[in-house]
Amino acid sequence: MKRTVLVTGATGYIGSHTCVCLLEAGWQVIGIDNLCNSSPQVIARIEHITGSSLPFYQSDVRDYAALCALLQRHAVTAVIHFAGLKAVGESVSQPLDYFDNNVGGSITLLRALQSRNIKNLIFSSSATVYGEPQTVPITETAPLSVTNPYGRSKLMIEQVLTDLAQSDPQWRIATLRYFNPAGAHESGLLGEDPRGTPNNLMPYIAQVAIGRRTHLSIYGDDYPTADGTGVRDYIHVMDLARGHLAALRRLLAHDGAHANTNTVSHNGCFTVNLGTGHGVSVLQAVRAFEQASGRHIAVRFAARRPGDVASCYASPAAALQLLDWQAEKNLQQMCEDQWRWQSANPQGFDSSATSLSPTDMTE
Ligand SMILES: NC(=O)c1ccc[n+]([C@@H]2O[C@H](COP(=O)([O-])OP(=O)(O)OC[C@H]3O[C@@H](n4cnc5c(N)ncnc54)[C@H](O)[C@@H]3O)[C@@H](O)[C@H]2O)c1
Repeated sequence: MKRTVLVTGATGYIGSHTCVCLLEAGWQVIGIDNLCNSSPQVIARIEHITGSSLPFYQSDVRDYAALCALLQRHAVTAVIHFAGLKAVGESVSQPLDYFDNNVGGSITLLRALQSRNIKNLIFSSSATVYGEPQTVPITETAPLSVTNPYGRSKLMIEQVLTDLAQSDPQWRIATLRYFNPAGAHESGLLGEDPRGTPNNLMPYIAQVAIGRRTHLSIYGDDYPTADGTGVRDYIHVMDLARGHLAALRRLLAHDGAHANTNTVSHNGCFTVNLGTGHGVSVLQAVRAFEQASGRHIAVRFAARRPGDVASCYASPAAALQLLDWQAEKNLQQMCEDQWRWQSANPQGFDSSATSLSPTDMTE
């Protein structure tokens, strides 16, 4: 019998791509999302790509009663918890929303899971918990520090999970620290659809390429990097999605034999970076996107932004060792897939040319 995984934030960018991976790997998936930052069209598209059905609940992870009702209806083996707010700037102006949604939502979810004795969890953390890294590549044992309420909400949840696992050894918790997700599903049917101004580089470049924005501002051209622009670790969203599958397998395979007491893995709980291990500068990303799209990307240089670091990329060694996982797709593939998604959906999921109703998709 198929085992069931509950995915929170299922219609979001990373959640939707992970649902595809899970369904293709033979999992039964139940999705929930309150749709505060995503479109309900995503479900039909996932079903179209995979040929599998995805029961979906429009629900908030802060709604304890709704979660308990859902968990009573479905025999859930594990949960992947993507649901959360993620805009750093917004978190500075609205910190309470971020703590309520991200920290409060996670605690409500954990309580509901505990009440049903479901204790296998994968949590979406972020490289933001490393703050300004002292050295690169960043390993999981690097000092943690945060510079904004979004990052603090992620670090607080990590700490809650550590305490929870310590209080009850039945919990199996994978904390995955993502670097910079980019790209889209190769079908062009799923991708990142930011509301308002994109916070991340790749969707911003894609919107310049499609003509929705006039130019890209590059903040800082005097960093101590090869071309003076900031360096980040861009990881293809499908590689990231596969990382969740690998983490799920690892969590459920735990039999105590692998338990060790280092900071990466302890009694079946572990924390790993999901990145490529390669740094790419803003200008390199722009050039790669121009090549993939055949479009010119206008750029303007501006002063450095406070809080931005020169260079940030992962050590992916622990993920390889623990999960037997590593990123496979390169920058060019990320740009090609991002462009396919952007050009087929110029206004995102609401583009009339490509809007497909669930009926269209399932016929
Ligand atoms: N994209 C990145 O750059 C990045 C990097 C590191 C970590 N993360 C984390 O990964 C997770 C997924 O990110 P994403 O890029 O897919 O973001 P996203 O905004 O596309 O997806 C998050 C989803 O969660 C939903 N959601 C938010 N609050 C909810 C709530 N209270 N109840 C139910 N649903 C809720 C939103 O509607 C959205 O569909 C987030 O937790 C984010 O913080 C993202």
